Amino acid sequence: MCGIIGYIGKRQAKKVLLDSLAKLEYRGYDSAGIAVLNKESHVVITKSIGKVANLEVMCTDADATEEIEDAGCGIGHTRWATHGGVTNTNAHPHQQGRIVLIHNGIIENFRELIVKFHLENQLVSETDTEVAAAIFNYYYEQTNNPEETIQKTIHELQGTFAFGILFADHKDCVYAIRNVSPIVVMHGEGESVLASDIMALAPFGNRYFVLPEYHILKMKKDTVSLMDLQGNMCEPDYLTIDWDVNQADKQGYPFFMEKEIMEQPDAMRRTILPRIKEGMIDLTVDGIPDSLFEGMDHICVIGCGTAMHAGLVAKHLIQQGLKIPVDVIIASEFIYEEPLITDKTLVIAISQSGETIDTLAAVRLAAKYTKRVLAIVNVVGSTITRESNYVMYTNAGTEIAVASTKAYTVQLCALYLLFGKLATIKKCYNYAKQREFVLQICDIIKDVEKILQDKETIHRLTQKLVQAKDTFYIGRGLDHSLILEGSLKLKEVSYIHAEAYSAGELKHGTIALITEETPVIAVMTQKKVKAKTKSNAMEVRARGASVLLLVAGELEDEADWDTVYHLPEREDIFMTFSTSVTMQLIAYYTALDKGLDVDKPRNLAKVVTVE
Ligand code: G6P
Repeated sequence: MCGIIGYIGKRQAKKVLLDSLAKLEYRGYDSAGIAVLNKESHVVITKSIGKVANLEVMCTDADATEEIEDAGCGIGHTRWATHGGVTNTNAHPHQQGRIVLIHNGIIENFRELIVKFHLENQLVSETDTEVAAAIFNYYYEQTNNPEETIQKTIHELQGTFAFGILFADHKDCVYAIRNVSPIVVMHGEGESVLASDIMALAPFGNRYFVLPEYHILKMKKDTVSLMDLQGNMCEPDYLTIDWDVNQADKQGYPFFMEKEIMEQPDAMRRTILPRIKEGMIDLTVDGIPDSLFEGMDHICVIGCGTAMHAGLVAKHLIQQGLKIPVDVIIASEFIYEEPLITDKTLVIAISQSGETIDTLAAVRLAAKYTKRVLAIVNVVGSTITRESNYVMYTNAGTEIAVASTKAYTVQLCALYLLFGKLATIKKCYNYAKQREFVLQICDIIKDVEKILQDKETIHRLTQKLVQAKDTFYIGRGLDHSLILEGSLKLKEVSYIHAEAYSAGELKHGTIALITEETPVIAVMTQKKVKAKTKSNAMEVRARGASVLLLVAGELEDEADWDTVYHLPEREDIFMTFSTSVTMQLIAYYTALDKGLDVDKPRNLAKVVTVE
């Protein structure tokens, strides 16, 4: 994870770096730091543990300001700690001799390198990054040439990296190189900037390029150049940002999470409507031909966290509805298994960011076995989209809150469209049935709107949760896939231990944990299993738990229950959306009432670029 930024140009580097770090903060907020090269060629490093706001305070301190006020060149970093604790010393940038380094990634052979280069007494931090800085410095001492130094150093390193590098005696250049971890670059009149993602580039224009792996980037005020490790100069492949990256504004909401929950109906429309033509699902807008599904006999869905949970819903729909075998595999497990993939397998990689390193590694592995790798991704132009055979973009817009909400909902929308399309191709749906499906999928947006209008009622449902240390979510079938995501949401933002359990399985041991202090949320939206889940809810109620029922349809014995919330009723497979949005609001309000920093929960980062 971690966010990196590098700038050289006509603006004040300090301001650019601090503003950009605030935009990259979702990638990690254990510490933040900047290094600038001032006009006297002095390197000035300022770092602070905690969020970027702390660093800003330090940088506005009068003494600090004077030294760095005039600098137009610098690098900055926001950290998610991997090697070494959250301390000022471990914060980036790291300096060794004339080298100043920021790093996103992990240098796996850093211990061997310490021994090989005799660095034991030279390092002050516990980080792998400082080891890399020392090796850059070692070669710079020998060569005095930045490009040669980078070439030689990179050959020593194993692992993933996006480096921003300052050479203290080159105050007119910022260098960078990467392997796997992302770097995007923009060059405009009198300035050049690099960052971990395009959001930080928004103030600088709309043409950017992705730094190719193992290419040395040299940024000057008026030029950028690319060189491969053999010394050949290359032309950057420019892209244009064609979506609004300026959404980084809370628009009056106390937290981005609430804003993003409220944006869901619009995001759903943006994902669904362009793929409907004359009442039918049409994926030609994504360049997905029907032939992609011809001869396909197996689907393998890969993803992490919330994205993987979206995959579980798809499994339920496709396997049950179309009788096509579907495996959902956590990306970090997939890459170490012998995946059962052939050229007849459709691999669906789901990712909000398109940068999650485990999902990317899984895509790369899958691509060795099949040419049917389809990415469902939110961030346009991200690495996973570039490495997949096909892409369905989910048009959620920028998601800033670490806890994913609208990105999940539109992942579901894309997967439902895929399901509807497959149902037609596999002749499970005739024309009329597909039209009916399309009407339903468009109509569910209204259900989500209803839930959002009712958010204050849902807020009141959370009173008992706020006090809880542990809680259980129970459900069966499709509801079980949904509660996995609902409970993850509660855990990550409220720090309440929340377990999602298959309702029927609880009695085989776990029910021992149920007491009066363990609120239970029972989700009952699936007709086939509603009565069964209700029996399981009665079992926990009999052990003293207070139960919140999220239910579709009537409940004859409603008066006997503590709290019941009625979801807008719809055919079972379409209950997903209103149910998951309700659980998002439950998590959000619980965290809000606990007074937590909802958008930046402790220990988390939005984009996970370490294995
Ligand atoms: C992190 C985020 C989660 C996200 C997961 C996968 O853990 O905090 O919200 O679900 O990564 O990210 P991706 O960008 O691949 O969807």
